[in-house]
Amino acid sequence: MELFSDVWAQALQSALRASESYQHAARGWEGAVVLDWSDAPSRASTNDCGVYLDLWHGDCRVARVATSADYASSRYVLSADMASWLTVLEGRMAPTTAILRGKIKLKRGSLGGLMPHVSAATELVRVAQTVSRDVYGATEPNKDIAAPNVNIRVTEAKTQRAPLQSTSAIGIRFNLFPMRLWEKAKRLGIWNPADIDFSQDRMDWQRLAPDEQDMLLRLTSLFQAGEESVTLEILPLLDVIAREGRLEEQLYLTSFLWEEAKHVEAFRRFFDHVAEVTGDLTHYHSTSYRQLFTDELPAAMGRLRTDRSPIAQARASVTYNMIVEGVLAETGYHVYHRVLVERGIMPGMQRVAALLKADESRHLAYGIFLLSRLVVEHGDPVWQAISSRMDELLPGAIQIINEAFAAYPVDHRPFNLEPEVFVQFAMTQFQRRFDRIERARRQSIHDVHALEAME
Ligand SMILES: [Fe+2]
Ligand SMILES: [Fe+2]
Repeated sequence: MELFSDVWAQALQSALRASESYQHAARGWEGAVVLDWSDAPSRASTNDCGVYLDLWHGDCRVARVATSADYASSRYVLSADMASWLTVLEGRMAPTTAILRGKIKLKRGSLGGLMPHVSAATELVRVAQTVSRDVYGATEPNKDIAAPNVNIRVTEAKTQRAPLQSTSAIGIRFNLFPMRLWEKAKRLGIWNPADIDFSQDRMDWQRLAPDEQDMLLRLTSLFQAGEESVTLEILPLLDVIAREGRLEEQLYLTSFLWEEAKHVEAFRRFFDHVAEVTGDLTHYHSTSYRQLFTDELPAAMGRLRTDRSPIAQARASVTYNMIVEGVLAETGYHVYHRVLVERGIMPGMQRVAALLKADESRHLAYGIFLLSRLVVEHGDPVWQAISSRMDELLPGAIQIINEAFAAYPVDHRPFNLEPEVFVQFAMTQFQRRFDRIERARRQSIHDVHALEAME
């Protein structure tokens, strides 16, 4: 008996039919899926080593070893080698992360079409995990990975400050990576939101269709609340870095905080001077958005007030830098900027988006540096915490994109925007950064400081 056999497929079908949580999560799902085993030793052609699941509104109507006809007729073909399937089936990586990182490839079907069904896919995999355990005795999901602070002792809050550095023999180490970012911030981050002329933007705004205005209000309200949240929540990280006596990082982080504050100001100027909106905008904030910005971000950052351990720092930085800045803000500003440029409208907001993109690229560069440094200094427990935190948050982050589009008809989206555009961009950037941090497992602190500042 093996994974991807008829027996396994039928066990999976029975388990799906018995799972109320799967039925609930997949109630909107229509269409068959092939799970393909790409490096199967018995493989004779490209279409004969997978399992076919005919999934329909929470039911699994048929489950069997896939035929060639099944491959051709299925809505999705998800393909991976056995090592990657086991990574997912043993709970070491979330299915969304595996797809976003290219471990599971979409040979058929679009990522945009799959996105609305993140929770159904997650439930399907959870059920498949139980089947794999019951039938084959596969290992339990690694709880050590999921639980924070497993192997690294919580550092007690220091009450005494580290000795001052700039008057010591060390001075300021201008060659360190954070100092190179600081130099860039001083050159590029000194723009003033109050200097931006929004007069043309206001005229352009009035000519937009109502659904286009609604989409821009929606996106801007997400950006606005996001920028205010990160401005408020960054402080515990600054405190940790200061208490650890990392002067060069602290110098750079002063610009980080100042830039976030200007981002808050810039978006509010859009509401005040372009859209001229005075009412409450929080109705644009969806369930997944609130969960990330109201619960996850404050919890991960706030934890640093009592827990300065490397793992707590890593979980905070993944939440703040990799997910909020990397997956959401950078992607949002990229698409927002492109829409305005392509339509040739709102030059003031074009400039805001371009400046924010440049600022955020430095913030992300710092985040990658911080996570890489933590991996070099503390090894695999930190790497595992990074990886599991990404698994926890990525599905919800993608759901935020999906929820932002749910208000508009699929065949008539404002600006012809497709969620797929957001996801593809986010995926490419995310993979690049994730790989970069993973490389730190084999690197020295010298290599980490040699990182090129991104621009
Ligand atoms: Fe920002
Ligand atoms: Fe930022």
